[in-house]
Amino acid sequence: MINEISFSAKNIGKTYHNLLKDDTVALSDINLDIYKGEFISIIGPSGCGKSTLLRIIGGLDKPTTGTLTYSGGENPELGFVFQDSVLLPWKNVRENAGFPLKIKKIETEDNYKKLDELLELAGLEDFKDSLPRELSGGMKQRVSIVRALSYDAPMLLMDEPFGALDAITRDHLNIELLKIWDKTKKTVLFVTHSIEEAVFLSDKVIVMSPRPGRIKEIVNIDLPRPRDENTRNSEQFSKYNQYLREMIG
Ligand SMILES: Nc1ncnc2c1ncn2[C@@H]1O[C@H](COP(=O)(O)OP(=O)(O)OP(=O)(O)O)[C@@H](O)[C@H]1O
Ligand SMILES: [Mg+2]
Repeated sequence: MINEISFSAKNIGKTYHNLLKDDTVALSDINLDIYKGEFISIIGPSGCGKSTLLRIIGGLDKPTTGTLTYSGGENPELGFVFQDSVLLPWKNVRENAGFPLKIKKIETEDNYKKLDELLELAGLEDFKDSLPRELSGGMKQRVSIVRALSYDAPMLLMDEPFGALDAITRDHLNIELLKIWDKTKKTVLFVTHSIEEAVFLSDKVIVMSPRPGRIKEIVNIDLPRPRDENTRNSEQFSKYNQYLREMIG
């Protein structure tokens, strides 16, 4: 199969101009090709520009220098999942997950059928009528993921989506996410603080260096798929973790 580029960044830089202090160079010289269907994680120290890069790729922020090219044409609307699930408290799970369909005026029977399939895939079929306050943190994040997938966004951008969850829930959701990814074949760009999470999920891990954020290395993760609990116990898994931990220091 010929690998098709999903997204390309050339010489992306971002400088924030501050009124009362020196400018912040958040990103510099970012060159990146992401192929369709890849699962890519970004790790690096706090403040190295991970969220900035994701926002720029998602079109929520403009780069100071460089160019972005998307395979689907100009700046497509990409699915975003943030650390906080930001659900509408008065709407139930199905209404929250399907909110983009309403906004985009694409509330077709077919799209709702797909939505229900995604809710089932995310283990939420029995909670469609529940309100956000009736859900656990992990369930809320699953609703956010389904919402981001509810319309046909070519790429899913996730900024520490499981960062606020306990380790057991996080491990569980990582497996769920891989199942959803496998079914939907989306390109995923995933920011995390956890080396283990990045290794477990990804085809490639992008390691960023401290400010000004640059790409230090891109590590291919050649662990077999599908990945499950056994993956975490494997010797290869530990080797990747150790390698990345040493690199980040
Ligand atoms: N809107 C903004 N205005 C000014 N400076 C900003 C703005 N957003 C981010 N920065 C600065 O840019 C740098 C990169 O921030 P960013 O949020 O991208 O880091 P990060 O890698 O996501 O960090 P963390 O791991 O803590 O989430 C930081 O020094 C931050 O202070
Ligand atoms: Mg961040």
